[in-house]
Amino acid sequence: MKKVFIKTFGCQMNVYDSERMAGELSAAGYTLVPVEKEADFVVVNTCSVRAHAEDRAVSYIGAAVKNKKVIVAGCMAERMKDELIKKFPSLYAVVGTFNFSNITDILANPKPRLHLDRSGEHYTNNVKRGAGIRGSMTIMQGCDNFCAYCIVPYVRGRERSRDINGIIGELKDMAAGGFKEVLLLGQNVNSYLDSGTKTDFAGLLRRAASVDGIERIRFMTSHPKDLSDGLIDAISTVDKVCGHVHLPLQSGSDRILEKMRRNYTAAWYKSRVEKLRKSMPGISVTTDILVGFPGETQEDFMETVKVVEECRFDAAYIFKYSVRKGTLAEGFGDDVPDKEKLMRLNYVLELEKKIGEDITKSLMDKVQEVLFYGPAMKQSGMMEGTTRANRKVIMECGVGTAGSIKRVKITGASGAILIGENQE
Ligand code: 5AD
Ligand code: SF4
Repeated sequence: MKKVFIKTFGCQMNVYDSERMAGELSAAGYTLVPVEKEADFVVVNTCSVRAHAEDRAVSYIGAAVKNKKVIVAGCMAERMKDELIKKFPSLYAVVGTFNFSNITDILANPKPRLHLDRSGEHYTNNVKRGAGIRGSMTIMQGCDNFCAYCIVPYVRGRERSRDINGIIGELKDMAAGGFKEVLLLGQNVNSYLDSGTKTDFAGLLRRAASVDGIERIRFMTSHPKDLSDGLIDAISTVDKVCGHVHLPLQSGSDRILEKMRRNYTAAWYKSRVEKLRKSMPGISVTTDILVGFPGETQEDFMETVKVVEECRFDAAYIFKYSVRKGTLAEGFGDDVPDKEKLMRLNYVLELEKKIGEDITKSLMDKVQEVLFYGPAMKQSGMMEGTTRANRKVIMECGVGTAGSIKRVKITGASGAILIGENQE
C-alpha cells in the first residue's frame, strides 16, 4: 500500500482542501502517514498570499524533493505553474486549486505533470477530517473583487458557490460522524448564492441550522461591503449561528481603501460593526489589517489606528504588505520601508493587546456557554473549548466532556486563554 504525507501551509481553506485530498486518497486505498519520512509521496499544499508563505514552502519542497515523490498542490501551483518544474526538475506533479478531487488519478498517472485545468472542479463525499468535534467545510470559493494587493482572484479563480444540497449532505455526514461545530469557509462567504434555488448566505445559515446534531455554526471570511442587514439579522436570530464575525478592515484611511479597491469607506465599515454589536450584544468582531500598502503615509496609518480604537476588535491579524506579482498594486511600487512597516505593525499589535486585555477583564465572573473539543494542548489534566464568541477556554473536567456544551464561569485568564469553572 502506497503511503502519503500531506504538508499544509496557509489558511483554513487549505486545511480543508488537504482533508479533501486525504479523503480521496484513503478511499482509493492509500495510507495517510503522520510524518514525512514514512511516506512514498509527499503532497505539499501551498499558500501564495504573502512572499513569506511561499518562501517557507519553497524551502520545504527543496528538502523533500531530494528523496520523495513530491506533489505541489494549491495556490503556488496556480501562481508558478511550470516555473515550479523548472525550479525542481524532479517534481512528481503540480496540482492546481481546481483539481484537488483528482489527486488519486494524478498520483497513479502524473503525466503531463501540470494539472491546472479549471473545467472539472467537483466535490465528493470523501473528506478525511482530523478527529474532533469541530470541522470546516468550503461553501464557496474564489473572488471577484480584485483588491489591488491580493493574489487570491488569480490563484483561486472567480467566485463560485457549491450546490446547497451537497453542502447540507456533507453537514449531515459530519453530524453522523460526531461533529458538533462547523466552520463554513469562503473567501467571501457572505456572497454565497446557490444558483439553482437562489438561496443566499442567510438562507444557507438557516438550512444548515436545521441539521440535527450540528450545534454550532461559524463562518469566515465576510467582506464588509456585502455585510447586509439581512445577514446581520440571520446571525443574530438563528440560535446555532455563533456570534463571531471576521471582517477584514485592511485600512482605516478612505484614500488607501480606494487605492486598495475595497469598495467601502471607514464610515461604512464602522456602521457595520456598530450594527453587529447593537443587534447581538457580546458578539465578537475580529479583523485583518494590512500595514505599509504603497503610498500609506503616517496620517493614513493613524486613520487605521483610529478605527481600531473605535471598533475595539476582539482580535486583529496584522500583516506587512508584501508585493504579489501580477496584482494591480505591483505597479504602485513598494515605497514604505520595511522598518516602518514593522513599526506600524507593532503599534497596532500593542494597541490590540491592550484592547484584548480589557475585553478579557470584562468577561471575568461572567457565565459563558462553552463547547469542549478535547484535552488542552499545553495544560495537562484540563479540557479545552471555545465560547460562542470564539474565545478559548480551559477548564478542569473529565475527558468525557469532549463534545458537550457546558455553562462555565470565567474565573481567570492566562494571556488570551480564559480559565473556567463548571456551573452545572
Ligand atoms: N501582503 C500582505 N498581506 C496580504 N493579505 C492579502 N494580500 C496580502 C499581501 N499582498 C492579507 C489581508 C487578507 C489576509 C488573508 O491576508 O489582510 O485579509
Ligand atoms: Fe483578496 Fe480582496 Fe478577494 Fe479578499 S476580497 S480574497 S482580500 S481580492
